[in-house]
Amino acid sequence: MAVDTLLERITDQANRPDPYPLYAELREAGVARQTDGSYLVGTYYDIVSLFHDPRLSSDRRNRAAPYRGLEAEEPEQMLPFIRLDDPEHHRLRSLATRPFGPPHSPDRIDSMRGEIAAITEELLASFHGRTRIDIVDDFAYPLPVTVICRLLGVPREDEPVFREWSGAIIDSVDIRPGEDPTERQRAGIQARAQMGRYLADLADQRRGRPGDDMLSAFVNDPDPAGALTHEELAATAVLLLVAGHETTVNLITNGVLTLLRHRDQLDRLRREPDLMPGAVEELLRYEPPVHMLQRTPLAHVDVAGTTIPKGVPVVLVLASGSRDPKRFRDPDRFDPARQDNRHLGFGSGIHICYGAPLARVEAQIALSALLPHLSTATLAEDPPPYRHSAVLRGPRHLPIEL
Ligand code: HEM
Repeated sequence: MAVDTLLERITDQANRPDPYPLYAELREAGVARQTDGSYLVGTYYDIVSLFHDPRLSSDRRNRAAPYRGLEAEEPEQMLPFIRLDDPEHHRLRSLATRPFGPPHSPDRIDSMRGEIAAITEELLASFHGRTRIDIVDDFAYPLPVTVICRLLGVPREDEPVFREWSGAIIDSVDIRPGEDPTERQRAGIQARAQMGRYLADLADQRRGRPGDDMLSAFVNDPDPAGALTHEELAATAVLLLVAGHETTVNLITNGVLTLLRHRDQLDRLRREPDLMPGAVEELLRYEPPVHMLQRTPLAHVDVAGTTIPKGVPVVLVLASGSRDPKRFRDPDRFDPARQDNRHLGFGSGIHICYGAPLARVEAQIALSALLPHLSTATLAEDPPPYRHSAVLRGPRHLPIEL
């Protein structure tokens, strides 16, 4: 089949349950130019080298005119740092890290372990007496939502308020070749503005009256070097709230699905609980929540014998790179004890996932606590129904019989 339709086939909802044969086709093709003009890259070493190449921009305003959507017109101060390049990206990421990780808050995530375990236990208690549950709605979604709400200082009961905004934002970053993205982008911009106002208002209420949450820390940092402007705070808080749960839900759900498909490994993890951190890394390689990311070359860039022109979007298919047989031995095998597992699940380079330490802790605690419930459980539907997004891929529901 023609490689120039690979992106269409990869993003086709019908292929969501198993895009991996298409990724093998992509790696075979090397760099593949698509009918919409964009380029696809799916081999591990090419993706890593592009992630570390400063000529590859995360700022969509650098796209050439035909590829520039509504989002390219957005004012700089509204953009979250995931969509900016250095030095602006570095400045904002460093400020956002002050209340989250080293060097200012080295224990922040570790100190949440007890709380994460308590939230997990509470959710598991709700399984009692039930014979059928939906892993997504009953467990994998509420857990990271509750955690990120606590961390940021967002009232948990406001979830119905921000759920719709979050959905619109996720939709706006999806890749759907052949579809006019204007409406999705308009809805995404509007949702980010509304969520930003909501979060900035919450932060304002804590000015001078700080709690132990990150919004409080953002508006009460005594060091003037730690100050975010009102717009920067709004854009950063939106990024953290959305990125903080929309991905982790897929990691936990993909984890349950994979373990129920590999019962020998499930039993092994029960016998050898110390394997869990490695199992989570293997899940990030084998069934990652983020399948692809986009970049824009600031100059003509040569990749594996193909010149990608300046301004033309490049799609880096991380989930393909993490299954590249030139990098991983027996890549289609799920092996929780795999050594040498430098997967691309959290990206690489300057934008490597900021929340990775939290995501790891959440997934390790959640899956460890679930294991005893899974030993007699069965999948009610395999494959399960998937969320629409091809970029953030994961089941919409995962019904299991207990
Ligand atoms: C399993 C869960 C997660 C996965 C698979 C994941 C994956 C990723 C990936 C692949 C990137 C790179 C984006 C790029 O290069 O353009 C990224 C960036 C980011 N992630 Fe995560 N993430 C997860 C959880 C989290 C959590 C829990 C948070 C927040 C607490 C978070 C916050 C961020 C932020 C702020 C960025 C932007 C970093 C930057 O631009 O420098 N993520 N994530």
